[in-house]
Amino acid sequence: MSSVLGTDSLFVSPVTPVDGVVDFVRRRGADRFGEGILRGNWVERNWHKEKTLWEQGTPGPGLGSMLAGERGVILEIAAGPGGGNLPSILFHNSQATVIVNDFSRLVLAEWKRVLSLDKAGDNVLFAAFDARKMPLKSASMDVVSTLGGFGNIAGQARAIREAVRVLRPGGRLLMIDVEPLNEDWRRLPDSVRRKWQSSCPALGSGFTKLLWRCGLIVQQRAVIGRKVFDDADDGELARTAIEHGVHLRADVAVFEAIKPAS
Ligand SMILES: C[S@@+](CC[C@H](N)C(=O)[O-])C[C@H]1O[C@@H](n2cnc3c(N)ncnc32)[C@H](O)[C@@H]1O
Repeated sequence: MSSVLGTDSLFVSPVTPVDGVVDFVRRRGADRFGEGILRGNWVERNWHKEKTLWEQGTPGPGLGSMLAGERGVILEIAAGPGGGNLPSILFHNSQATVIVNDFSRLVLAEWKRVLSLDKAGDNVLFAAFDARKMPLKSASMDVVSTLGGFGNIAGQARAIREAVRVLRPGGRLLMIDVEPLNEDWRRLPDSVRRKWQSSCPALGSGFTKLLWRCGLIVQQRAVIGRKVFDDADDGELARTAIEHGVHLRADVAVFEAIKPAS
């Protein structure tokens, strides 16, 4: 781990990595999600899939090319079994300084193991914490990035406000996430929309408005694809929508935002 990631200067309290992961989560029970990811060997499979795509010249999703131009420490939020932008970041810049976050320590320890086998990620630190209450010092990060992270966090506005707090003035948020098409979203019953929007307001009003409300200046929103939630395996929202006869279509978009200098 690089000296840039001297943990004491970034975290609000002293930490010691165990299995390469600093862990701030007080768990009451077992990490069932992480255990499932390990059983399915998803991290190793995803890493090798992304690496093969990269080597074949057909890279998968990820903001590595944009992030390669950023200086300083990148915080990748809710990296999950796909690693979020991490594979793409490392393919573009093997020496990038990254703090990789998720709620699941098991998923992060697995990323640490898989990358170590490949001698990749020299300057990567893995940190398990709740992105809605980050144990990081204010203005300690140069860039926050995520790929589908904020869309998967219940209470996403709190997580985005935390991202703004830990960004230095002038620091940037780069993210990819999905936004349901209005015409499809409106076909869901009011009660369903209200329930989902209470924890994920971007589902109804989009990320641009939410990022702005959380204190960021949105510089760009670019649609890069379309996703259809037509399979119950696409998650609870997809299942609920299908029950109501709606196969939600969503824009996949890249957002670039900046924290104002003052
Ligand atoms: C299923 S993943 C999808 C996106 C992910 N970036 C990927 O590439 O796989 C969502 C991840 O968000 C994490 N997560 C959910 N809530 C979180 C929170 N409050 N703080 C940090 N991570 C969270 C979950 O543990 C899970 O790994």
